[in-house]
Amino acid sequence: KGCKLVGCGSAVPTLQISNDDLAKIVDTNDEWISVRTGIRNRRVLTGKDSLISLSVEAARKALEMAEVDADDVDLVLMCTSTPDDLFGSAPQIQKALGCKGHPVAYDITAACSGFVLGLVSAACHIRGGGFKNVLVIGADALSRYVDWTDRGTCILFGDAAGAVLLQACDSEEDGLFSFDLHSDGDGRRHLNASTKENEVDHPLGPNGSLADFPPKRASYSCIQMNGKEVFRFAVKSVPQSIESALEKAGLTGSSIDWLILHQANQRIIDAVATRLEVPPERVIANLANYGNTSAASIPLALDEAVRAGKVKSGHTIATAGFGAGLTWASAVLRW
Ligand code: ACO
Repeated sequence: KGCKLVGCGSAVPTLQISNDDLAKIVDTNDEWISVRTGIRNRRVLTGKDSLISLSVEAARKALEMAEVDADDVDLVLMCTSTPDDLFGSAPQIQKALGCKGHPVAYDITAACSGFVLGLVSAACHIRGGGFKNVLVIGADALSRYVDWTDRGTCILFGDAAGAVLLQACDSEEDGLFSFDLHSDGDGRRHLNASTKENEVDHPLGPNGSLADFPPKRASYSCIQMNGKEVFRFAVKSVPQSIESALEKAGLTGSSIDWLILHQANQRIIDAVATRLEVPPERVIANLANYGNTSAASIPLALDEAVRAGKVKSGHTIATAGFGAGLTWASAVLRW
């Protein structure tokens, strides 16, 4: 049994924040941000949108492109680390899409690697589980966990949603050639947004007494990041992982049509492309407009490239997500 990509879609909030806007709230400037990251603008969720509404919009566009009815979707995977509901958002997306077939729907949490891990999970469900039409949504609103007084992180992130529809097909049409997946919990110290420790004590308190009962409501700290370490990890591990996936697919960096990386930093994208010998004209990048949108960045970049007529039917794509966890995941596929 094979699986192929048959549709994509994306959605972003309307509020745009430029580098100049950020320079009004932290000590930074457009030149520093553009030179160090390639980012010029980002979109930020306001009360008008939710992550679910963006995801539903992206999913509807993917279904429309695929000409598949929502009733025929049998699995919805919502890849996000910033859900509207702590217990998961996928069932609410299923409901909003009005899927009468009542597909199973659940969330996957893997930060910026979430979309690629979701795609591979979807392929496994199709190949081994008999599923036929799987919606994979990558969506994040990191603006909810950004410290807007920290110039080291607040300049990087934006909010968005992207979706693809993966469909069962005969094995000769298979469009997911290979993948390569990794995690390293030791690297968590370089990038995390943890529950606040003093608020998640055991209900009976540290000494087992009732003095601290009831416990305070848990909350998360803002994103804590050692940018240099994350940068170093990305430029070392991501090319290795993509090379491994390309080798499994019998391809090389110079034989693929497109490289679509998680959109974290233009310098990371350039370094990975150079190492893989992918020429700049075959690299898709849109982070100048959206910043790092975490799990949404790959399907958002793919969707824009498909709709712009750059990525065409039959093209081969190498993709990789990487980030918090630490996690990193590559896949080689055909559009
Ligand atoms: N504006 C102006 N100056 C700044 C800013 C800013 N926004 N931020 C930092 N600086 C200053 C620093 O204070 C420092 O000043 P100093 O030399 O006087 O001490 C100087 O600029 C250099 O700072 P560095 O942190 O060393 O800058 P660097 O070149 O490493 O760039 C950056 C920082 C852009 C964050 C880079 O390290 C990076 O992109 N790392 C990867 C981060 C990433 O991709 N994270 C997302 C992972 S995805 C996920 O899972 C969430």
